[in-house]
Formats: sequence, structure tokens, C-alpha cells
Amino acid sequence: MDILIKPTNKTIRASQGSTLLEAFLENGIDISYSCLSGRCGTCRCKIIEGSVSGPSAAEGRLAQHGQFVLACQSRIETDSVIEIPEPDEIITHPTKTLKAEVVSYDELSKDVRRLRLKTNKAFDYSPGQFSNLSFWREDGTRSYSMAGVTEDDTLEFHIRLVPNGRVTSKLDEQMKVGASIKLNGPLGASYLRRKNTDPMLCIATGTGLAPIISIVRGALESGMQNDIHLIFGARTEEDLYGLDYLDRLASGHSNFQYLIALDHTKPNSPHFRGLVTDAIAENFPDLKSWRIYLAGAPAMVEAASLACTKRRANIERIYADAFYPSG
Ligand code: FES
Repeated sequence: MDILIKPTNKTIRASQGSTLLEAFLENGIDISYSCLSGRCGTCRCKIIEGSVSGPSAAEGRLAQHGQFVLACQSRIETDSVIEIPEPDEIITHPTKTLKAEVVSYDELSKDVRRLRLKTNKAFDYSPGQFSNLSFWREDGTRSYSMAGVTEDDTLEFHIRLVPNGRVTSKLDEQMKVGASIKLNGPLGASYLRRKNTDPMLCIATGTGLAPIISIVRGALESGMQNDIHLIFGARTEEDLYGLDYLDRLASGHSNFQYLIALDHTKPNSPHFRGLVTDAIAENFPDLKSWRIYLAGAPAMVEAASLACTKRRANIERIYADAFYPSG
């Protein structure tokens, strides 16, 4: 079978039945990948012509926008034309399972905890990616994004405690410094794209702040001069956390600014009153050529993605991993 790769216009030969990823790697075509098992979405690419068998990678906001597939799971059926998105932004961090030790566990807000872990081996990831953490054997695995690596070289995660959640409702009582946790990662395709100067709009609700902080910090620490705007949405002031850190980032970097959007504000509150979609509508009339990073509940991701595309954002420059709440 002949596969024409866009945007490079290189044609490769591939055997019928092999996966797209196998064909790419055998022919020296670079593509982002990580888990090799259909879980992380990192190897997503787009079928322009021809057909492959395998699961669609198009969920929700992408479903209306062309045929996206996972290269590691899609088997070649015909001659095809395949587009590899952003070939200059390739990442390949193989997903690993590592042992990690709890270094600290503390309170960020009434229902958000900060967990710091030290892994037993080197762990590479791109800002914005996530891992699966297994706290104990039975049904104890949940997905959390890395908020970054701290000064003492530990990985930081933000965990929302869900009332009656099978795992998180027990954490305050059972999480102990020195405990061992299994970490499987990195996963996810919503990672920082570094090789561009496009303005960035980062939108987080709840503990979606963790990957968004990681992306903002990754961009600023690597010297990216892009204008970076963050909208952090919450229901009330009591649900906010991390503002000291955001203030420090904003005062140290003139290209970064953030605004808080609250469903309910107190009288004289300095914060924007409304949903993150209202904040987009009021502050960002034209998002053509922007990069948009979204992290939070699926309903927010869908609504914010729609609000951005209505303001001319390119759907293929909107990055978000699907997270479904689990306690
Ligand atoms: Fe294909 Fe993770 S590498 S889905």
C-alpha cells in the first residue's frame, strides 16, 4: 500500500494490515506516541483519503472535524493520504510503570490536596500530560495531570476529594508520607507546543489547573515569549487555590496574565463574574492563530471549545484530554 504523508508529501510503502504507527516508524516518519495501547491519544493523526480499520480518535469536540484515528491502533486497508499534525512538535515519551514514594500530601483548598511523589527511576513527560496513579490494589487507580516538577525534583499532582468517592474520600485518612504508589505514564496529547510564537489561551476549572500550570510554567521557564493568558474558573472564592503561585508567575513574566471567573462573586469582588465561556466572550473577540489549552470537566471543555471556535480558533489548535470525574 502507498501512504502519502502530509504535510511533508513523502510517500511510504506499507503492508496491508500493519498499523499506521508501525509503517511510520519502519519508514523513519516521526510521529508523537506514548502508550502504544490506544489510551493516551498522543499518536492521533488524520485520514485525508483512503481507509484504515480501528477506533476513531474523534471524541466530542473533534467529531465534527474530519476523521481522526490513533496511529498505534489503526490498520492500513487501502492506499491512503494521512496527515500527521504538527510534525515539528513531535514528542515520544514511552509510557512506563514506575514505583513512586509519597514525599508530601497537603491541603490546597477545602477539597483539593497536593500530592508530591518521587519516582524510583527517571520520568520524562511534556507539560500538560497526565499519569495513572494506583493508590492501592483494588480499584484504586485514578488519572491525574502533573502540575510540574518542584525544586526538590518531585512530581506534583492536584487531587480533588470527591464526597463518597471510592478512592479520594479515603485519602486524607490513609495517605502517608513514605507510602508507595504505582505510577503509569506519561499519557495524553494535550501537551505544550513550544515551536511557535502564537498567543496562548489556557483555560482551567477545578484541578484542571494542574496541567495548565504545568503548561504555563513550561512555556515561561523555557523562555517562550508568546503572550499567555489564563482563565481559571470556579464556583466561588472558596473553590480557588494556587493564586499566590499565579501571582508570582505574573509578576515575574510580563507576557503572562490571568483572570479568575467565578459563578458567584461576593460584593466588591475583584474577579470576573460568570462562566469561563462568558470570560472568553468578553475578553477574546478573535482567536484566529491562537493556541488554546483546556483542562477541566468535559462539559466545560466542550463549551469552551465551541466558544473559541466561534471566535475563529482553529479546532486543531485546541488541545484537551478527556477526563471524566471519578472519585
Ligand atoms: Fe497511540 Fe497512546 S500511543 S494512543
